[in-house]
Amino acid sequence: MLKIGVIGCGKIAQVRHLPEYLEHSECHIVAVTDLNFDRAQEIARQYHCQADISAEALLDRPEIDAVSVCVANADHAAVTICALKAGKHVLCEKPMAVTLEECQKMVDTAEKFDRILVIGHNQRLLKTHQLVRRLIASGEIGKVLMWHSCFCHGGPENWSIDKRNIWFFDQKRSAYGALFDLGIHKIDLMQYLLDEPVCSAFAVTATRDKKGAENQPIPVEDNALCMLHMKGGSWGTVHASWTCYGNERNSTVIDGSLGTLRIYDHPVYSCIIERKNGEKSFYQADGIQTNENQTRSGIVDAFIRAILTGEPSVNDGRQALSSMRAVFACLKSSQMQSKIEIIDSRM
Ligand SMILES: NC(=O)c1ccc[n+]([C@@H]2O[C@H](COP(=O)([O-])OP(=O)(O)OC[C@H]3O[C@@H](n4cnc5c(N)ncnc54)[C@H](O)[C@@H]3O)[C@@H](O)[C@H]2O)c1
Repeated sequence: MLKIGVIGCGKIAQVRHLPEYLEHSECHIVAVTDLNFDRAQEIARQYHCQADISAEALLDRPEIDAVSVCVANADHAAVTICALKAGKHVLCEKPMAVTLEECQKMVDTAEKFDRILVIGHNQRLLKTHQLVRRLIASGEIGKVLMWHSCFCHGGPENWSIDKRNIWFFDQKRSAYGALFDLGIHKIDLMQYLLDEPVCSAFAVTATRDKKGAENQPIPVEDNALCMLHMKGGSWGTVHASWTCYGNERNSTVIDGSLGTLRIYDHPVYSCIIERKNGEKSFYQADGIQTNENQTRSGIVDAFIRAILTGEPSVNDGRQALSSMRAVFACLKSSQMQSKIEIIDSRM
C-alpha cells in the first residue's frame, strides 16, 4: 500500500487528486497540508488523515512514499524538488514550473534521486485522445496538414477555491495567465497526438478584458493565440482564453491529406472522421472534462502505475519538459513579436 501526502488542498486536489487516491486500492492518504491550515484540517477530517502545518513537515514523514503538488504555479518547482530530495515520488500539477530552468531541474532531480515525476497533463489520458493518437499513427487521415486546438472558458475566478484575490491573478504566484493555465494542455496534447515536437512558434498574448478584485486589468494574459510549426511539417494554432463567457470550448480539428478529424467538436460523438471520399466514421469514447463536469481524470492511476511498475508514464517529467519548451517559445515570441525556433526539441 503506497502512503500518500497531498500538498495544496484547493480545487484540483478536492475534485481530482484526493478522490482518485481514495478510490485507488493501492493507496492510503496519510497527510495533507495547505498554506490555509483551516482548509488542510477540514480536508484531513473529510479524508481521515493528518493535517500538517507545512509542506516541510509533511515531507519529513518517513512513511510517505508519494505526494501530489497542487499549489500555486510559482511554487511547483521548489516544492517538487524538496519532495524528490526527500525521497518521495511526485505528481505535480501543470504548468510544470514558471521557468524552463526550473523544469529542467525538476527532471534532473527526479533522475538523480531515482524517483518518478509525473506532470498533470491529463488531456493525454482521455480515451478519445488516445484513440485519435492511434488513428493518426495508422494513417487514417493521411499526412497531417493543418490543425486548430482551443481551450477557452470564462476564467479561473469561477474555478479557484478562493473566490476573491485568487492567486491566478497575482503575477508573483501564477507568473503567467491563460497560456500557462490552458495553452499548455493543448500544446502538450498536440505533441502527444502527432507524436512529434513543436519546432517553432509565433504567438500573441494579451489581456483583453479580465479585471482583478479592484477592477483593474489583471497583470497576466487572459488570452494567448499561438501558431506552431511541428517537426513533421504541419502548422496549427492553439487558442487559450479566460474570456470565453459563453459555453466552454475545448476541442481540436485536424486536417489530413485523406480527411478531417473532429475531436470533442460534436454534442454526441467525441470523434468524427470526415473523409475526402465523403464517407464518415463516428466514435463515442468519452466526454471531455469541463470545469462544471469533472470526470475521473486517470492521472492518479497513471502516477501509481508508474511507481508500481517502474515503466515511464506518458505524463512523465521529460515529456512535459519538451512541451514546456514550446510554451516558453510562445512566451518569448509574444514578447519579441517574432517567430522563435526551438533549438532543442527532444521529446
Ligand atoms: N490539470 C488540470 O486540468 C488543472 C486544473 C486546475 C488547476 N490545475 C493546477 O493545480 C494547481 C492548483 O490549482 P487549484 O485550481 O487547485 O487552485 P486553488 O486556488 O483552488 O487552490 C490552491 C490551493 O493551494 C494552496 N497553496 C498555494 N500555494 C501553496 C503552497 N506553497 N503550499 C501549500 N499550499 C499552497 C492554497 O492555499 C489553496 O488552498 C495549479 O498549479 C493549477 O494550474 C490543474
